[in-house]
Amino acid sequence: MKQSEASNPFLFGTVALDEAFTDREREIAELSSDMRNGQDVVVFAPRRFGKSSLIWAAAQSVRKNGVLVAPVDLMATPTKERLASALAASVYENIASPLERVWEKAAAPFRRLRVQPAMTLDPDTGSLAFTFSTTREPADVDATIEQLLKLPAELGEERGLRTVLVFDEFQEVVELDPHLPKLMRAIFQRQPQVGHVYLGSKRHVMDRIFNDENEPFWRSAKPIELGLIDPEHFSPFIAERLKATGRAPDQAAIARLLALTRGHPHATQELAYFLWEQTPAGEAASVERLEAALGAVLRAEHSHFTLLWEEASTVQRLVLEALAKEPGRPLTQAYRDRHGLPSAASVQTALRALAQREVVAGERGDYRIVEPFLAEWLGRR
Ligand SMILES: Nc1ncnc2c1ncn2[C@@H]1O[C@H](COP(=O)(O)OP(=O)(O)OP(=O)(O)O)[C@@H](O)[C@H]1O
Ligand SMILES: [Mg+2]
Repeated sequence: MKQSEASNPFLFGTVALDEAFTDREREIAELSSDMRNGQDVVVFAPRRFGKSSLIWAAAQSVRKNGVLVAPVDLMATPTKERLASALAASVYENIASPLERVWEKAAAPFRRLRVQPAMTLDPDTGSLAFTFSTTREPADVDATIEQLLKLPAELGEERGLRTVLVFDEFQEVVELDPHLPKLMRAIFQRQPQVGHVYLGSKRHVMDRIFNDENEPFWRSAKPIELGLIDPEHFSPFIAERLKATGRAPDQAAIARLLALTRGHPHATQELAYFLWEQTPAGEAASVERLEAALGAVLRAEHSHFTLLWEEASTVQRLVLEALAKEPGRPLTQAYRDRHGLPSAASVQTALRALAQREVVAGERGDYRIVEPFLAEWLGRR
């Protein structure tokens, strides 16, 4: 390919695969090992930290060992019928179909479901779409979901193969039906040979599901905390991708980029994407071009930040402005005096609300803005 024709090698907003994926070696090794062992795992991470990309990479790795992994994204299943459809499609594609070459045979277990789905075969891809009608008794839908959740264990056992069910955006289960966790847990408890992986953002909801002793999933899975990507790993990745597409990397620009994003996966790829756009073929991705790229990112994120700002209370706004200037200890008298903040009690309330929305984060009273680029946006208003 001619260098001038190379397309932008950075990507944000979708699952990062293959060349777009970097680092996470330790996490992939740990998750893969857990999946091979049938150990249940819960992965906690704020939004856009790379949960889906990580599980994709780990699933690819264990499939090489014959483990059958069926992922379901609960964000894409707003009703229980849709959950049943997604479960059926994934279990068919990732478990039934690899075990049984003839599609009628692979589809046979789905004909025994309480609610009969409409099945449409795509002759080109071989994938089977399932549709459950919504006119049924709720109890029938629950029974069907129950049957589907039991299928991986039954199918895997026949062949002595390990199966794993992966639930992305698992916190949505509560929205679907508050009774669903109890039903699921009752089934999963009786299938120790099946691995279960739960991924979730919305920390307070995930915490309630897994860390409250009155909840069915209490301590049922090994927790893994997904962090930022170490800038030490991100830096050579960015340089390499720039070089591969005919742009000269500039260490100072990459250092500034990573100082702005601190290795936040999505934010890093977003800013790198705009940096690449600013850099003509054959030229250097310089510090000046990085500043222009940051301006472009802030313009692209403007409506998102405006909405966030409009939804914030007065005290929350004051706290955000203060933290944008000075990350630190907003509950101390000295900090509040410096930034004209109200009482510690109301600052605390504001911090709690902002932390719940994952706009700020803090440990032992020490807070900072974690929403990428928000501090820069506030600084430029
Ligand atoms: N390992 C990685 N290497 C490079 N970039 C990554 C990696 N993981 C994530 N990213 C970047 O972060 C973005 C978000 O990743 P992903 O969708 O996997 O995160 P997520 O935590 O599942 O997000 P969401 O909360 O939106 O579901 C990707 O589009 C990509 O730009
Ligand atoms: Mg995701």
